[in-house]
Amino acid sequence: MTETEPVTFPQDRSCPYQSPTGYEPLRATRPLTRVTLYDGRPVWMVTGHALARQLLADPRLSSDSTHPAFPATTEGMAAMRNFRVALMGVDDPEHHAQRRMLAPSFTLRRTTELRPGIQRIVDGLLDAMTEKGQPAELVSAFALPVASMVICELLGVPSEDRHFFEVQSQRLLLSSDVADVRDAQSKLAAYFAELVDRKQKQSEPGDGVLDELVQQQLREGVLDRQGVIEFATVLLIAGHESTANMISLGVYTLLQHPERLAELRADPGLFPAAVDELLRLLSVVDVLGRRATEDIEVGGTTIRTDDGVLFSPSVINREEDLYPAPDTLDWHRSTRQHFAFGFGIHQCLAQNLARAELEIALHTLFDRLPGLRLAAPPEEIPFRPGYAIQGMLELPVTW
Ligand code: HEM
Repeated sequence: MTETEPVTFPQDRSCPYQSPTGYEPLRATRPLTRVTLYDGRPVWMVTGHALARQLLADPRLSSDSTHPAFPATTEGMAAMRNFRVALMGVDDPEHHAQRRMLAPSFTLRRTTELRPGIQRIVDGLLDAMTEKGQPAELVSAFALPVASMVICELLGVPSEDRHFFEVQSQRLLLSSDVADVRDAQSKLAAYFAELVDRKQKQSEPGDGVLDELVQQQLREGVLDRQGVIEFATVLLIAGHESTANMISLGVYTLLQHPERLAELRADPGLFPAAVDELLRLLSVVDVLGRRATEDIEVGGTTIRTDDGVLFSPSVINREEDLYPAPDTLDWHRSTRQHFAFGFGIHQCLAQNLARAELEIALHTLFDRLPGLRLAAPPEEIPFRPGYAIQGMLELPVTW
């Protein structure tokens, strides 16, 4: 470990698609350093790519965010300690059992089957946006509804309810008011409890993931009602927030790189590579948290039991040896092993789906609106604070 004055974590970005300038010392002290949280607590920060892979595969690091020593990066997160998060917040062997129940719904084949539905949703939203006329606010007219309508269809949640859960998950993830966070959490739990009860009573089951869970697991007693509610909550929140922010920030970033965008338009076959390079550069989920359950020796340093351990994908994704000129957007480089989806047993369950959504949304948007441009000076467009999933708060565009 290299000694340095601990930086505070997290910090706001100064450019929405770059790692915060305040994280420079983290990049200079790979692979392991110390940072200080909002409440003054010192925790480990893993900054090296190889060490991040090693530690994220180490069963001595726990994801159980209900444990009192789990590192909370905001007061709002600390207030959610009583909130059991399925999959993401569960360790093996329970995690393995949960993942096995959901994995069949997220295979590459299932994702391929979903592509025509995603295309329909994207086309419909662009029809509505262009009919309404310009300028438009792209987060509310496109990025957020693409992500939440796809997850509604996948789960079997009525899409007319999407405004309700968009609002609640915004409050849950963005609010710094503890009472607000708790209220959003209980409203979501009540909503899903009611939805699961409705699905149990249906004589004709629907074909969403929740319908399958209710049919197979709940009725056979493998999963209880609370278990289905916890699955629904994690999928709904994880499924729309990160994807919506990748779409809005991806559009902003491409519009700030006109020469790159021209290249994509000339050769749309580059979109899949562009999506992975955008995932690497933007690293919208910019913190993964863990707690050591035992002492762990790392190159002469000891991470002690109950120490908090964080990983910042935007820092790890900028390791110069793996990604030369790491702050530049270049889809001709190899982006293999980027950390935007995490690593190890908790690596994003829906990464195939997320890639498909991003590819279809970005390709169709730029194809249908060749004159798309920002409708405000880029430096005046607000983006999300450093403690949240990174992305744009608003994106005014014209075409
Ligand atoms: C661009 C979009 C997305 C990004 C950047 C992203 C990122 C991530 C990351 C970094 C993790 C690892 C968390 C950790 O290790 O603590 C994760 C896990 C997860 N993601 Fe995603 N995600 C995206 C889209 C989605 C979508 C669309 C869904 C659901 C439909 C989803 C569901 C999940 C779930 C359930 C987990 C937990 C997996 C486990 O613990 O086994 N994600 N995601």
